[in-house]
Amino acid sequence: MESSGKRDGFTTTVGVIVATLGSAVGLGNIWKFPSLTGMNGGAAFLIIYLAMTLLVGLPVMISEHVMGRKARADAITTLQKLAPGSAWWLIGAAGVLSAFLIMAFYTEVAGWVFAYVIKALSGSLLSTDPAVTTQAFTTLVSNTWWSLIVQWVVLLWVAFIIVAGVSKGIERMTKRLMPILFAILLIICIRALTLPGAGEGLRFLFQPDFSVVTWGTVLVAMGLAFFKLSVGMGTMITYGSYFREDQNIPLTATRVMLADLLVSLLAGIAIFPTVFTYGFAPDAGPSLLFITMPAVFASMPAGGLFMVLFFVLAAVAATGAMLSLFEVPVAVLAERTKLSRKGATWVTFAALAVVGSLAALSSSTLADVHLFGMTFFDLFDYATQNILLALGGLFICLFAGWKWGSAAIQEQLSNGGTLNNGVVVKAYTIVVKYVTPILVFLVLLNGLGIV
Ligand code: TRP
Repeated sequence: MESSGKRDGFTTTVGVIVATLGSAVGLGNIWKFPSLTGMNGGAAFLIIYLAMTLLVGLPVMISEHVMGRKARADAITTLQKLAPGSAWWLIGAAGVLSAFLIMAFYTEVAGWVFAYVIKALSGSLLSTDPAVTTQAFTTLVSNTWWSLIVQWVVLLWVAFIIVAGVSKGIERMTKRLMPILFAILLIICIRALTLPGAGEGLRFLFQPDFSVVTWGTVLVAMGLAFFKLSVGMGTMITYGSYFREDQNIPLTATRVMLADLLVSLLAGIAIFPTVFTYGFAPDAGPSLLFITMPAVFASMPAGGLFMVLFFVLAAVAATGAMLSLFEVPVAVLAERTKLSRKGATWVTFAALAVVGSLAALSSSTLADVHLFGMTFFDLFDYATQNILLALGGLFICLFAGWKWGSAAIQEQLSNGGTLNNGVVVKAYTIVVKYVTPILVFLVLLNGLGIV
């Protein structure tokens, strides 16, 4: 905490939006969204994802923001302040655990992205032969030291921004990065839409094929909605605690949700037409980004330039998201222990480097270590996206809808009665009490094959 005793926070309304959007927009948009859409039936998946975003992601985001702003504290302390003497703080504690598990694999993927910016600049990725781009990727991920080094570089980069503080670090950096992100994304989209395969790519993205949809698909879409909006684990509680008192929370959350959706769709529009134009398969999964895309760019005129832009885009997106994940344990340590923000940052850095190495080495030294039939990387990814975030979101809704009380919520959502948004408050209250928890519960039970 600042020595003056005043808590740091976002300084302007725009600052709140860019930082929150910076958290939502990330590898989820550029890596997970296109590959999951590709693997799960294109537009059919998109429609389910949209429903989940509206009925699950948005209400949980609003709940987290109001809780954080009311308590003005880190994720654990927020719940202790709002429900003293109860066990609800465990939501915050579970959130810190989720932040670690997500960061563990996220920083590794971000590390590959950073490495690919350099590789793209050097021109060494420019091959139209998927065998060559596969080889380039395998060489990177199967090398123990490189796997660790790229992750450490990413962690250092994020730590340096976090140390600078909430307004001078997170807010200032995301304000610079978000315009760059939109500019690059638009350039790549225009290029993609002027390619001969654009029609086929768009049809793939926007024409529904429901024959592939199962409960498992619905679970994946719900998990993606949580992951995309950074909800279900206290990131948005922490960011909400830095919101301005006069911030219109329902409006802010809706804007962030829509802008995040736009970025996801634009990423799909940037990727699928190019993939179809040059005859690659759209359903390559995570390797879409690192194996398919370089080969696709290499097939394209001036592809070297577009490849550099594409990986810079991914690096920029990943940065804002990682800031918000890193901030969760830092806020907890800085506010609950004697550590300064600087101390909290470096303790978190060290802890993340240790936990992260389990995921980083999942394609090399630890490739043969399996838990529940998965490597650490896959386990952290699966457990957070499909289970932990959903459970966190479920309890956050139960807390906001049933425990906290509608008077307190109404006060927060309307900024003490100064906003004229009674309809919004009513709709939110019904959704968060009944719709979201029941939906999350059903999808979890069915998607995990419990019923
Ligand atoms: N939303 C980010 C993305 O799409 C990832 C992310 C940041 C996240 N903070 C989070 C996911 C908190 C879950 C919870 O890449």
